[in-house]
Amino acid sequence: MKIGYLQTNPIFSEKEQNFNEIEKLTANLKADLIVLPELFATGYTFISKEEAVSLAENTNGITSQFLLKIAKNTGAVIVGGFVEKEGNKIYNSAMLVSNKGVIGTYRKIHLYYKEKLWFSPGNKPLKVFKVNGVNVGIMICFDWIFPETARTLALLGAEIIAHPANLVLPYCQKAMVTRSLENRIYAITANRIGQEKRGNDDFKFTGGSQITSYDGSILSTAPLDQIFIEFVEIDQNLVRDKKLNDYNDLFRDRKKEFYLV
Ligand code: ACM
Repeated sequence: MKIGYLQTNPIFSEKEQNFNEIEKLTANLKADLIVLPELFATGYTFISKEEAVSLAENTNGITSQFLLKIAKNTGAVIVGGFVEKEGNKIYNSAMLVSNKGVIGTYRKIHLYYKEKLWFSPGNKPLKVFKVNGVNVGIMICFDWIFPETARTLALLGAEIIAHPANLVLPYCQKAMVTRSLENRIYAITANRIGQEKRGNDDFKFTGGSQITSYDGSILSTAPLDQIFIEFVEIDQNLVRDKKLNDYNDLFRDRKKEFYLV
C-alpha cells in the first residue's frame, strides 16, 4: 500500500488558505493513507482558550468536509489534526476520514506546555482503526515521549501509527526510529515547518517529517524547512509477525511481571 505525509506551513487561523495549499499539494495524488500535521488548518500557538475555542469544530465542520473532499480526490484515508469541540471542552484531536466520511477521532492524551491551558487531555482510550485492510493507530506529537502510547497502539494491533505533529523540540525524529523498531511497526510522523510568534511564545517548527519502518530504517525524510510531500510503498504483512528470529518474539518475550505499569 502507498502511505505518506504532507509537511506544510500553516498560516495561523486561516483555514481556507491552509485547505487550498493542501488541495494544490494533493492535486494529482493517489494513495492509501495520507497523514497531515497536528492542527494543520488552524496553526498551533494560541494565546487564549477563547481563541482556540473560536477555531474549534466538531466532526461535521468545514475541516471534516475538506478532508472528505481530499479523501474522494485521492482515494486515501486521511489523518489530520484539528481543534475538536465537545460541550464546553476542546481537545487537540486528529480525525480519520475516508471517502465515505469521518471514521473516528483521537484526542491527544499527553498535552505539551501551554496546550494544558486551552485543551482538555484526551478522554477516549487509545484505539486502532481498521481501514482498507490495515490497522491504523493514531497518536499526536508529544505522545511520542511516552513510549507507552506507541506500545499500547501496537499491542492493540496497530500496523501503522499515524503521527500528526507540530514538533518544536529536536528529539522526536530519532525516538520514532526506536518506537518503530521496538514495536515492529511503521510510523508516519507528519510535522510542520515555519514559525509562529504569538503572545510570549515564539515557536520554530522543526520539519523533518519521516516514515520509519519496523526494522529501524527510515523510508522517507523531509527537509527541515520546506513544504514537502512523500509517499512510499509498504507491505503491512511484514509487521503482523513480531518475531525477530526463531527464539525472540517482541511481544511474547515481554516480562510484564518485572515492569511497573
Ligand atoms: C507538541 O506536542 N505539539 C510539541
